[in-house]
Amino acid sequence: MTPQTSSIPAADLSARRLPSYSHLHELMRRFQVKDLVNVDAESFMRTLDEFEQLDDHEMEGFAGRDKQHPIYVKFHWGHRHDFGEFSKPGRMGNHHIMVMATFIDELKAIGQSLAGKRVLDIGCWTGGTSLLLAAMGAEVVAVEEVKKYAECTRYLAHAFDMRSIEVRHMSLYECITDEFQDAFDLVLFPGVLHHLSDPKLALRITFNCLTDGGSCLIETLSFDHDAEIVARRALELAPDPAREPWGWNWLLFTPGTLMKTMEGVGYTISHPCTVMDGRTFVVGRRDRHTDLWRAGLSVRTIR
Ligand SMILES: C[S@@+](CC[C@H](N)C(=O)[O-])C[C@H]1O[C@@H](n2cnc3c(N)ncnc32)[C@H](O)[C@@H]1O
Repeated sequence: MTPQTSSIPAADLSARRLPSYSHLHELMRRFQVKDLVNVDAESFMRTLDEFEQLDDHEMEGFAGRDKQHPIYVKFHWGHRHDFGEFSKPGRMGNHHIMVMATFIDELKAIGQSLAGKRVLDIGCWTGGTSLLLAAMGAEVVAVEEVKKYAECTRYLAHAFDMRSIEVRHMSLYECITDEFQDAFDLVLFPGVLHHLSDPKLALRITFNCLTDGGSCLIETLSFDHDAEIVARRALELAPDPAREPWGWNWLLFTPGTLMKTMEGVGYTISHPCTVMDGRTFVVGRRDRHTDLWRAGLSVRTIR
């Protein structure tokens, strides 16, 4: 049976000051200019500036810049990076640290150490989560469909000699080759599900990537409703419809529908999901590989 949802107002969570937050924040202090290994400070700053200047649709394989998401064309920092001598203010700030602390402290899905764990980081943007996972001891494979962001994450890993991070410029939907099958103890899947055109297929792919006993940690925009529905968010609700008319896909689940869909692709939901500030946190465990309901599936051959 699907466990219940627990709702936590954002203010309560920050008041509780997730105990792991400061620990994780401290871990990120190992990525400072003084800790650079493979590049010097000057070339590091210059290269980051060059990333920032990227405003290029061709490198992403787009025929034109119109009708493409602006963030896919022009480089934007996703995560806040504090490099000691200077910092980069990302659009999501330290949200990635808060997400990880929530999975540790609220959902008890992982411990503070990920030593010995192989983790798939989906949609790594500018690498904040990948660096954090590596600092927690994980072996990380980070996938990102936007080339400029994959290259940025790869550069940061190289600069700090984080050999435990492997970055792949590819879509999650391409993670179906042998090397991704039964290969990961954890799939970290925050901030991406609501952008995807086919969330059910994506969830099945994450299920196939895990080993038996492995878990998928999801954080996603969601909306609250008792009915078991999925909503395509209306364009007029988008933050800036004039600028982002095509946006990402904005398929939003209710927490209950998300858990049912996860069960539908094979997951066991072992812990009540947490809803905070319009975002749902949920953990699915792959007890063992099982088949799924195939009627209407967009890719019939998916394992
Ligand atoms: C809102 S960001 C979330 C970043 C990161 N996961 C986090 O929570 O800190 C979404 C990222 O997912 C990437 N993305 C979207 N769809 C993807 C797909 N199908 N495969 C791989 N990456 C994808 C986007 O390019 C973007 O970098």
